[in-house]
Amino acid sequence: MAHALVTGAAGFIGSTLTDRLLADGVRVTGVDCFTDYYDPALKRRNLEGASRHPAFQLLPLDLATADLSALPEVDVVFHQAAQPGVRASWGREFATYTSHNVLATQRLLERYQKTALERFVYASSSSIYGDAESYPTSESVLPRPFSPYGVTKLAGEHLVLLYGRNFGMPVTALRYFTVYGPRQRPDMAFHRFCRALLAGEPITVYGDGKQSRDFTVIADAVEANVRAWKRAAPQGVYNIGGGSQVEVVEAIALLEERLGVKAQLKFEPRPPGDPMRTRADAARLQADLGYATTVSIGDGLAAEAEWARSLYGGVR
Ligand SMILES: NC(=O)c1ccc[n+]([C@@H]2O[C@H](COP(=O)([O-])OP(=O)(O)OC[C@H]3O[C@@H](n4cnc5c(N)ncnc54)[C@H](O)[C@@H]3O)[C@@H](O)[C@H]2O)c1
Repeated sequence: MAHALVTGAAGFIGSTLTDRLLADGVRVTGVDCFTDYYDPALKRRNLEGASRHPAFQLLPLDLATADLSALPEVDVVFHQAAQPGVRASWGREFATYTSHNVLATQRLLERYQKTALERFVYASSSSIYGDAESYPTSESVLPRPFSPYGVTKLAGEHLVLLYGRNFGMPVTALRYFTVYGPRQRPDMAFHRFCRALLAGEPITVYGDGKQSRDFTVIADAVEANVRAWKRAAPQGVYNIGGGSQVEVVEAIALLEERLGVKAQLKFEPRPPGDPMRTRADAARLQADLGYATTVSIGDGLAAEAEWARSLYGGVR
C-alpha cells in the first residue's frame, strides 16, 4: 500500500486530497497544527470522514517548530500547509507567513531530502504572478508577486525547486488559481458570498466587482496532485487553472440564482495586494498531466452553495 504525507491535511484542499487518496487505497499520514487563521472547528469537521478511516493517521504538529524526525518514511509528500490569504499578509502578520510558508517548507525539505521519495508536490499559487505581464499567464513569465503572501509562496517554491536541482529531489510545484467548492475557506469570496446570502446580510464586494479570476474547482486541484505524483516532469512547475474565468459580480449572480436570494451589495475599495485579473495558460498542465476540467462554474458553484447550506442552514 502506497503511503502519502499530506501537510495541511485539515484544510480545504488538504482534507479533500486526503479523502481522495484514502478512497484510492493510499495510506495517509496527515499533518496539521490547526492554525487560527480561521475557526479550527471547521478544520476538525473537514477531517471527520478521514478520522474514521483505518488507513489515516493525524499528527497535530507545527512544521515550523516541531521535531520533524517524528514524520514517517513515505512514498510521496503533498505539501499543502501554509498561512493563506493575501489581505492579512501585511504588517506584523508577515512573520506568521514567513514561518508557515517559508521556514516550514525548508524544514520539510530537509526532513525528506535523503529519503527515497517518488514525489514531493508543493502547493504554490497564482499569487506569485501578481498583476501578470501577460494573459493567459504561462509558467515561463517572470513572477512578480503583488502581496507579501505571494512573496512567501514564491520563496517556498524556489526552495522546493532548488532542493530538486541540488539534490535530485523529485519535486513539482502546482500553482493553483483560486480554488473553490465544498470546504472552501471562510475568508474566500464564494464562501463569504454564500454565508451572507444565506443569512440575508449584505455582501462586501471589493472594487467594482469587475475583477476576474480563473477559478479552479476543488476536484481539479485534487486530480492535479494525484497526476503530478505519477506523471509530472522532474522539477516541473504547472499552472492549475484554466477552468472558468468569471467576474466577481457574475459569480454573485450565479449564487443568487442557486440559493434563490437577491444579494444586497456593499462596495468597498479594492484592498492592497489584490490583483485585477488572473488567467492561467493551462497548456502545460494538459500536455504533461493530461488533465482538463469537466465541471462548469455553474455546477461547481451549485456544489459549494449546497455545502454552505449544510453548514449554515438558511433560506431554501
Ligand atoms: N485555496 C486556494 O484557492 C489556493 C490558491 C493558491 C494556493 N493555495 C495554497 O494551497 C494550500 C492549501 O490552501 P487551503 O485553501 O486549503 O488553506 P487552508 O488554510 O484551508 O489549509 C492550510 C492548512 O495548513 C495548516 N498549517 C498551516 N501552517 C502549518 C504548519 N506550520 N504546520 C502544520 N500545519 C500548518 C493550517 O492549520 C490549515 O489547516 C496552501 O499552501 C495555499 O497557499 C490555495
